[in-house]
Amino acid sequence: MLRYHNVTNLVLYRKYRPKAFSEVIGQEHVVRTLSNAIAGSLISHAYLFCGPRGSGKTTIARLLAKAVNCQDQKGSEPCNKCSSCLEINEGRAIDLIEIDAASSGGIDEIRELREGIRFAPAKSKYKVFIIDECHQLSKEAANALLKTLEEPPSHAVFILATTEIQKMIPTIISRCQKFDFRKLTIDEMVRRLEFISKAEKAKIEKPALELIALNSAGSLRDAESLLNKVLNFSGLEKEIKKEDIIGILGLVDTQVMVQLADYIAERKMDLALEFLGKTLEKGFDPEVLSKSLIEYFRKILILKVNPDLQNTVIQGFNEEEKKHIEKHLSVFTLAEIHRLMTILISASNQMKYSPIPQLPLELAIVEGLQKEEK
Ligand SMILES: Nc1ncnc2c1ncn2[C@@H]1O[C@H](COP(=O)(O)OP(=O)(O)OP(=O)(O)O)[C@@H](O)[C@H]1O
Ligand SMILES: [Mg+2]
Ligand SMILES: [Zn+2]
Repeated sequence: MLRYHNVTNLVLYRKYRPKAFSEVIGQEHVVRTLSNAIAGSLISHAYLFCGPRGSGKTTIARLLAKAVNCQDQKGSEPCNKCSSCLEINEGRAIDLIEIDAASSGGIDEIRELREGIRFAPAKSKYKVFIIDECHQLSKEAANALLKTLEEPPSHAVFILATTEIQKMIPTIISRCQKFDFRKLTIDEMVRRLEFISKAEKAKIEKPALELIALNSAGSLRDAESLLNKVLNFSGLEKEIKKEDIIGILGLVDTQVMVQLADYIAERKMDLALEFLGKTLEKGFDPEVLSKSLIEYFRKILILKVNPDLQNTVIQGFNEEEKKHIEKHLSVFTLAEIHRLMTILISASNQMKYSPIPQLPLELAIVEGLQKEEK
């Protein structure tokens, strides 16, 4: 029976969106450069933020908008008290225009923008336009935007954000000051999750937070959403353990992958299939499991090619598991890992269409072990 305790009415990732540059995690070079520019009043007319999802692009865009229009700005931080800051925090600032290019290709919005941009800001120093997912602007909209960027009025600041810079037209890129965002590290995410849990008065052990971070692919938004789910589900009374997370989120524990890889390494097909069956019986999603297994072999592959990456690649594994990783590194050849991964990827793709979802994974294990026995 599911019992939901509503920890918070607010979605955590919105509630904990940084309100000052000092709260931003990682992205140090972006924060430093922008802070210096703001403090020195050297504001560009066009910025381009590119990088992975959930890494702070919209967050920093709004901080920049707040800072340039803050009526009581000290250094580079917005005050979060003046009417301009409050309006932006509450999402009702008329001089901050946010356009989502993903919704309609943005053509109506860009047309409006071209018409409206001549008029001075209503209340503030700058009119700030944030264009999200700007690689999805239609060709027409992109060309219209380009014209605007060629001669922007002095009161306009554009902040374009994208996860896929390679899809943008170079003429737009070259008009902007470009900032590269990076994925957040496990450590950075765990620290933020610790901070949020404490603020929400939730008790959750560190290995549980590490597992959440590990499953968020560098996106702090995803990590915060997972934490949100876990807190809503478990409530605040008792301490949440790693095992609880595995159950609630249907995540695959590192231990499961290591064990499965171990049976494969030892060529024990019967044990591998039995273990797989038992794991799936516990309610694990076969698609998630095969994805995790692919990720595990990918780690082995990376370490084989470049052993120096040890510290970054095997974060989140305990000592016992690290010993197994060592073993797998010596047992599997590069060619074998390559072949296993190819087989697993194709199994993963077949799962959606398979009458028995776990069958492709089982067949993959059989195939992976069989050919090697010749
Ligand atoms: N660098 C960061 N520091 C602190 N919090 C962050 C950071 N990046 C993301 N977050 C958290 O994740 C949420 C979403 O971040 P944001 O909207 O800035 O991501 P994004 O890079 O714009 O992602 P997308 O490409 O999906 O739009 C924020 O509200 C905040 O809670
Ligand atoms: Mg965004
Ligand atoms: Zn202010």
